[in-house]
Amino acid sequence: MDIRVLGSAAGGGCPQWNCACANCRGARDGSMRIEARKQECVAVSADTRAWFLLNASPEIRSQIEAFPALHPRRLRDSPIEGILLTNGDLDHTLGLLSLRESQPLVIYATEAVRRGFVEGNVLYRTLQRRPEQVTWRTLPLGGEVELTANGAPSGLVVEAFAVPGKLPVHLEGLLTARSGEENVGFRILERPTGRVLVYLPAVGHLTPEVLAKAGHADCLFFDGTFWSEDELVELGASAKRASDMAHLPIGGEGGSLSALDRVNTPVRIYIHLNNTNPVLREDSAERAIARRAGWRIARDGMEIVL
Ligand code: MLT
Ligand code: MN
Ligand code: ZN
Repeated sequence: MDIRVLGSAAGGGCPQWNCACANCRGARDGSMRIEARKQECVAVSADTRAWFLLNASPEIRSQIEAFPALHPRRLRDSPIEGILLTNGDLDHTLGLLSLRESQPLVIYATEAVRRGFVEGNVLYRTLQRRPEQVTWRTLPLGGEVELTANGAPSGLVVEAFAVPGKLPVHLEGLLTARSGEENVGFRILERPTGRVLVYLPAVGHLTPEVLAKAGHADCLFFDGTFWSEDELVELGASAKRASDMAHLPIGGEGGSLSALDRVNTPVRIYIHLNNTNPVLREDSAERAIARRAGWRIARDGMEIVL
Protein backbone atom coordinates (compact mmCIF):
# COMPACT_ATOMS: atom_id res chain seq x y z
CA MET A 1 0.00 0.00 0.00
CA ASP A 2 1.25 3.45 -0.93
CA ILE A 3 0.28 6.34 1.31
CA ARG A 4 1.02 9.94 0.46
CA VAL A 5 0.28 12.87 2.78
CA LEU A 6 -1.05 15.73 0.66
CA GLY A 7 -1.84 17.90 3.67
CA SER A 8 -1.06 17.42 7.34
CA ALA A 9 -2.56 20.48 9.05
CA ALA A 10 -5.91 20.98 10.75
CA GLY A 11 -8.46 23.45 9.37
CA GLY A 12 -6.77 26.76 8.62
CA GLY A 13 -3.45 25.18 7.64
CA CYS A 14 -0.12 26.60 8.73
CA PRO A 15 0.27 29.49 8.47
CA GLN A 16 -3.41 30.32 8.90
CA TRP A 17 -4.53 33.41 7.00
CA ASN A 18 -5.59 35.39 10.08
CA CYS A 19 -3.06 34.10 12.59
CA ALA A 20 0.21 35.56 13.74
CA CYS A 21 0.93 33.06 16.51
CA ALA A 22 4.60 32.17 16.89
CA ASN A 23 4.23 29.08 14.70
CA CYS A 24 2.35 30.87 11.92
CA ARG A 25 4.85 33.74 11.95
CA GLY A 26 7.71 31.26 11.90
CA ALA A 27 6.23 29.41 8.95
CA ARG A 28 5.84 32.72 7.09
CA ASP A 29 9.18 34.37 7.73
CA GLY A 30 11.48 31.42 8.38
CA SER A 31 12.31 32.64 11.89
CA MET A 32 11.58 29.19 13.29
CA ARG A 33 12.22 25.62 12.31
CA ILE A 34 8.69 24.93 11.12
CA GLU A 35 7.33 23.85 7.75
CA ALA A 36 4.21 25.30 6.15
CA ARG A 37 1.41 22.74 5.92
CA LYS A 38 -1.78 22.42 3.92
CA GLN A 39 -5.01 21.10 5.34
CA GLU A 40 -5.36 17.39 5.97
CA CYS A 41 -5.74 15.10 2.97
CA VAL A 42 -4.08 11.75 2.32
CA ALA A 43 -3.89 9.68 -0.89
CA VAL A 44 -3.82 5.88 -0.76
CA SER A 45 -3.24 3.29 -3.48
CA ALA A 46 -2.66 -0.45 -3.76
CA ASP A 47 -1.01 -0.26 -7.18
CA THR A 48 0.22 3.38 -7.49
CA ARG A 49 -2.17 3.86 -10.45
CA ALA A 50 -5.65 4.05 -8.89
CA TRP A 51 -5.75 6.45 -5.95
CA PHE A 52 -8.25 7.16 -3.19
CA LEU A 53 -8.30 10.39 -1.22
CA LEU A 54 -9.02 10.42 2.47
CA ASN A 55 -10.95 13.69 2.88
CA ALA A 56 -11.13 16.56 0.41
CA SER A 57 -9.41 19.63 1.75
CA PRO A 58 -10.14 23.19 0.59
CA GLU A 59 -6.61 23.14 -0.93
CA ILE A 60 -7.24 20.10 -3.08
CA ARG A 61 -6.32 21.70 -6.38
CA SER A 62 -2.76 22.56 -5.36
CA GLN A 63 -2.45 19.26 -3.48
CA ILE A 64 -3.28 17.33 -6.67
CA GLU A 65 -0.82 19.43 -8.65
CA ALA A 66 1.91 18.76 -6.07
CA PHE A 67 1.67 14.98 -6.54
CA PRO A 68 2.23 13.88 -10.17
CA ALA A 69 0.61 10.46 -9.60
CA LEU A 70 -2.72 12.32 -9.39
CA HIS A 71 -2.33 14.20 -12.66
CA PRO A 72 -4.64 13.37 -15.61
CA ARG A 73 -3.25 10.87 -18.14
CA ARG A 74 -5.52 11.99 -20.98
CA LEU A 75 -7.43 15.09 -22.05
CA ARG A 76 -10.10 14.68 -19.36
CA ASP A 77 -9.14 12.14 -16.72
CA SER A 78 -8.16 11.57 -13.11
CA PRO A 79 -6.37 8.73 -11.32
CA ILE A 80 -8.55 9.62 -8.28
CA GLU A 81 -11.00 6.72 -8.20
CA GLY A 82 -12.77 7.73 -5.03
CA ILE A 83 -12.87 10.12 -2.10
CA LEU A 84 -13.57 8.90 1.43
CA LEU A 85 -14.93 11.29 4.07
CA THR A 86 -14.31 10.82 7.79
CA ASN A 87 -16.78 13.57 8.68
CA GLY A 88 -18.51 16.60 7.20
CA ASP A 89 -16.21 19.31 8.55
CA LEU A 90 -15.44 21.95 5.96
CA ASP A 91 -11.71 21.18 6.05
CA HIS A 92 -12.67 17.65 4.92
CA THR A 93 -15.39 18.42 2.38
CA LEU A 94 -14.97 21.87 0.83
CA GLY A 95 -12.55 20.44 -1.73
CA LEU A 96 -15.39 18.43 -3.26
CA LEU A 97 -16.90 21.65 -4.60
CA SER A 98 -13.59 22.47 -6.28
CA LEU A 99 -13.73 19.20 -8.24
CA ARG A 100 -16.65 20.46 -10.32
CA GLU A 101 -15.16 20.28 -13.81
CA SER A 102 -17.60 17.55 -14.90
CA GLN A 103 -15.34 14.68 -13.84
CA PRO A 104 -17.37 11.76 -12.45
CA LEU A 105 -16.69 11.49 -8.70
CA VAL A 106 -17.20 8.54 -6.40
CA ILE A 107 -17.62 9.55 -2.78
CA TYR A 108 -17.56 7.03 0.06
CA ALA A 109 -19.24 8.27 3.24
CA THR A 110 -21.70 7.29 5.92
CA GLU A 111 -25.31 8.21 5.28
CA ALA A 112 -25.14 10.93 7.97
CA VAL A 113 -22.07 12.56 6.40
CA ARG A 114 -23.65 12.41 2.93
CA ARG A 115 -26.87 14.02 4.13
CA GLY A 116 -25.01 16.69 6.07
CA PHE A 117 -23.24 17.69 2.87
CA VAL A 118 -26.03 17.50 0.29
CA GLU A 119 -29.18 18.51 2.17
CA GLY A 120 -30.03 22.18 1.96
CA ASN A 121 -26.73 22.85 0.23
CA VAL A 122 -27.42 24.91 -2.87
CA LEU A 123 -23.73 24.82 -3.82
CA TYR A 124 -23.91 21.03 -4.13
CA ARG A 125 -25.93 21.60 -7.31
CA THR A 126 -22.63 22.34 -9.03
CA LEU A 127 -21.83 18.62 -8.66
CA GLN A 128 -25.25 17.62 -9.97
CA ARG A 129 -25.13 19.03 -13.43
CA ARG A 130 -25.36 15.51 -14.81
CA PRO A 131 -27.04 12.63 -12.97
CA GLU A 132 -23.90 10.49 -13.11
CA GLN A 133 -21.57 13.28 -11.94
CA VAL A 134 -21.41 12.05 -8.33
CA THR A 135 -21.88 8.50 -7.15
CA TRP A 136 -22.24 8.12 -3.39
CA ARG A 137 -21.25 4.78 -1.87
CA THR A 138 -22.60 4.29 1.62
CA LEU A 139 -20.20 3.22 4.35
CA PRO A 140 -22.17 1.24 6.94
CA LEU A 141 -20.55 1.25 10.39
CA GLY A 142 -18.64 -1.97 10.89
CA GLY A 143 -19.12 -3.26 7.33
CA GLU A 144 -16.40 -3.85 4.76
CA VAL A 145 -16.77 -2.00 1.46
CA GLU A 146 -14.57 -2.73 -1.52
CA LEU A 147 -12.99 0.33 -3.12
CA THR A 148 -13.30 -0.07 -6.86
CA ALA A 149 -11.28 1.35 -9.72
CA ASN A 150 -13.06 1.41 -13.09
CA GLY A 151 -15.58 -1.06 -11.71
CA ALA A 152 -12.92 -3.61 -10.71
CA PRO A 153 -11.51 -4.32 -7.24
CA SER A 154 -8.74 -1.86 -6.43
CA GLY A 155 -7.08 -4.13 -3.89
CA LEU A 156 -8.33 -1.96 -1.02
CA VAL A 157 -11.25 -2.63 1.32
CA VAL A 158 -12.47 -0.07 3.84
CA GLU A 159 -14.34 -0.42 7.09
CA ALA A 160 -15.72 2.72 8.71
CA PHE A 161 -16.15 2.65 12.48
CA ALA A 162 -17.68 5.12 14.89
CA VAL A 163 -15.32 7.55 16.62
CA PRO A 164 -16.40 10.06 19.27
CA GLY A 165 -16.56 13.42 17.55
CA LYS A 166 -18.93 16.26 16.93
CA LEU A 167 -21.13 17.67 14.25
CA PRO A 168 -19.60 19.98 11.66
CA VAL A 169 -19.76 23.55 12.98
CA HIS A 170 -22.22 24.56 10.22
CA LEU A 171 -24.68 21.85 11.31
CA GLU A 172 -24.60 22.68 15.02
CA GLY A 173 -28.10 23.56 16.19
CA LEU A 174 -29.65 22.22 12.97
CA LEU A 175 -29.37 18.54 13.69
CA THR A 176 -30.26 17.05 17.03
CA ALA A 177 -30.52 13.32 16.38
CA ARG A 178 -27.10 11.74 16.42
CA SER A 179 -26.58 8.44 14.70
CA GLY A 180 -22.94 7.82 15.68
CA GLU A 181 -22.10 8.11 11.99
CA GLU A 182 -21.13 11.79 12.04
CA ASN A 183 -17.47 11.06 12.68
CA VAL A 184 -15.75 7.85 11.69
CA GLY A 185 -12.35 6.29 11.40
CA PHE A 186 -11.19 4.06 8.58
CA ARG A 187 -9.56 0.68 8.63
CA ILE A 188 -8.19 0.13 5.14
CA LEU A 189 -7.10 -3.39 4.28
CA GLU A 190 -4.97 -4.19 1.29
CA ARG A 191 -5.51 -7.47 -0.50
CA PRO A 192 -3.77 -9.83 -0.84
CA THR A 193 -0.93 -8.47 1.33
CA GLY A 194 -3.12 -8.07 4.43
CA ARG A 195 -1.53 -4.70 5.21
CA VAL A 196 -3.74 -2.39 7.29
CA LEU A 197 -3.89 1.39 7.55
CA VAL A 198 -5.99 2.91 10.33
CA TYR A 199 -6.92 6.54 9.78
CA LEU A 200 -8.21 8.62 12.70
CA PRO A 201 -7.83 12.36 12.11
CA ALA A 202 -10.52 13.41 14.62
CA VAL A 203 -10.85 11.56 17.92
CA GLY A 204 -12.78 13.17 20.78
CA HIS A 205 -11.89 10.43 23.21
CA LEU A 206 -10.86 6.81 23.13
CA THR A 207 -13.32 3.96 23.14
CA PRO A 208 -12.47 0.25 23.38
CA GLU A 209 -13.17 -0.07 19.65
CA VAL A 210 -10.95 2.85 18.68
CA LEU A 211 -8.14 1.48 20.87
CA ALA A 212 -8.50 -1.99 19.39
CA LYS A 213 -8.46 -0.69 15.83
CA ALA A 214 -5.49 1.60 16.52
CA GLY A 215 -3.55 -1.31 17.97
CA HIS A 216 -4.08 -3.72 15.09
CA ALA A 217 -2.58 -1.97 12.11
CA ASP A 218 0.64 -1.63 10.18
CA CYS A 219 0.27 2.14 10.07
CA LEU A 220 -1.81 4.48 12.22
CA PHE A 221 -2.64 8.11 11.56
CA PHE A 222 -4.06 9.74 14.69
CA ASP A 223 -5.56 13.08 15.71
CA GLY A 224 -2.67 15.46 16.43
CA THR A 225 -4.69 18.68 16.47
CA PHE A 226 -3.55 19.97 19.86
CA TRP A 227 -0.72 19.28 22.25
CA SER A 228 -2.70 20.45 25.28
CA GLU A 229 -6.29 20.87 26.36
CA ASP A 230 -5.90 24.64 26.85
CA GLU A 231 -3.68 25.43 23.90
CA LEU A 232 -6.03 27.95 22.25
CA VAL A 233 -7.21 29.44 25.54
CA GLU A 234 -3.69 30.06 26.86
CA LEU A 235 -2.71 31.68 23.59
CA GLY A 236 -5.76 33.94 23.74
CA ALA A 237 -6.85 32.64 20.32
CA SER A 238 -10.19 31.15 21.39
CA ALA A 239 -12.30 30.27 24.39
CA LYS A 240 -12.58 26.70 23.16
CA ARG A 241 -10.70 23.90 24.81
CA ALA A 242 -9.60 20.80 22.89
CA SER A 243 -12.44 18.77 24.42
CA ASP A 244 -14.99 21.39 23.30
CA MET A 245 -13.80 20.69 19.76
CA ALA A 246 -13.70 16.89 20.23
CA HIS A 247 -9.96 16.58 19.71
CA LEU A 248 -8.09 14.50 22.28
CA PRO A 249 -4.83 16.36 22.96
CA ILE A 250 -1.48 14.61 22.49
CA GLY A 251 0.18 15.60 25.77
CA GLY A 252 -0.83 15.67 29.40
CA GLU A 253 -2.50 13.14 31.61
CA GLY A 254 -4.99 11.17 29.54
CA GLY A 255 -3.58 12.60 26.32
CA SER A 256 -3.12 10.28 23.36
CA LEU A 257 0.60 9.80 23.94
CA SER A 258 0.02 8.17 27.30
CA ALA A 259 -3.34 6.58 26.43
CA LEU A 260 -1.83 4.88 23.38
CA ASP A 261 1.51 3.96 24.95
CA ARG A 262 0.75 0.26 24.71
CA VAL A 263 -0.24 0.40 21.07
CA ASN A 264 2.61 -1.17 19.16
CA THR A 265 1.50 -0.40 15.64
CA PRO A 266 4.91 0.03 14.00
CA VAL A 267 4.22 3.28 12.12
CA ARG A 268 2.38 5.91 14.18
CA ILE A 269 1.85 9.38 12.77
CA TYR A 270 0.11 12.46 14.17
CA ILE A 271 -1.93 14.33 11.54
CA HIS A 272 -4.56 17.14 11.43
CA LEU A 273 -2.05 19.32 13.28
CA ASN A 274 -3.32 22.70 14.36
CA ASN A 275 -0.97 25.58 13.63
CA THR A 276 -0.68 26.34 17.35
CA ASN A 277 0.69 22.87 18.16
CA PRO A 278 4.28 23.00 19.47
CA VAL A 279 5.09 19.62 17.87
CA LEU A 280 5.19 21.47 14.55
CA ARG A 281 8.48 23.12 15.61
CA GLU A 282 11.28 20.75 14.75
CA ASP A 283 13.32 21.75 17.80
CA SER A 284 10.52 21.82 20.40
CA ALA A 285 10.56 19.79 23.60
CA GLU A 286 7.08 18.48 22.78
CA ARG A 287 8.21 17.14 19.42
CA ALA A 288 11.14 15.39 21.11
CA ILE A 289 8.74 13.77 23.60
CA ALA A 290 6.49 12.49 20.81
CA ARG A 291 9.45 11.24 18.80
CA ARG A 292 10.93 9.44 21.79
CA ALA A 293 7.58 7.68 22.25
CA GLY A 294 7.86 6.42 18.66
CA TRP A 295 5.52 8.88 16.95
CA ARG A 296 6.16 10.74 13.73
CA ILE A 297 4.72 14.15 12.92
CA ALA A 298 3.05 14.26 9.50
CA ARG A 299 4.41 16.67 6.95
CA ASP A 300 3.15 17.48 3.47
CA GLY A 301 4.70 15.17 0.89
CA MET A 302 5.43 12.40 3.41
CA GLU A 303 5.26 8.98 1.78
CA ILE A 304 4.76 5.66 3.52
CA VAL A 305 5.02 2.37 1.68
CA LEU A 306 3.55 -0.55 3.59
C1 MLT B 1 -12.33 20.50 13.54
O1 MLT B 1 -11.43 19.74 13.15
O2 MLT B 1 -12.65 20.53 14.73
C2 MLT B 1 -13.05 21.34 12.54
O3 MLT B 1 -12.41 21.30 11.31
C3 MLT B 1 -13.20 22.71 13.07
C4 MLT B 1 -13.94 23.62 12.13
O4 MLT B 1 -14.63 23.19 11.21
O5 MLT B 1 -13.80 24.83 12.30
MN1 MN C 1 -10.65 19.89 11.21
ZN1 ZN D 1 -1.23 30.32 14.15
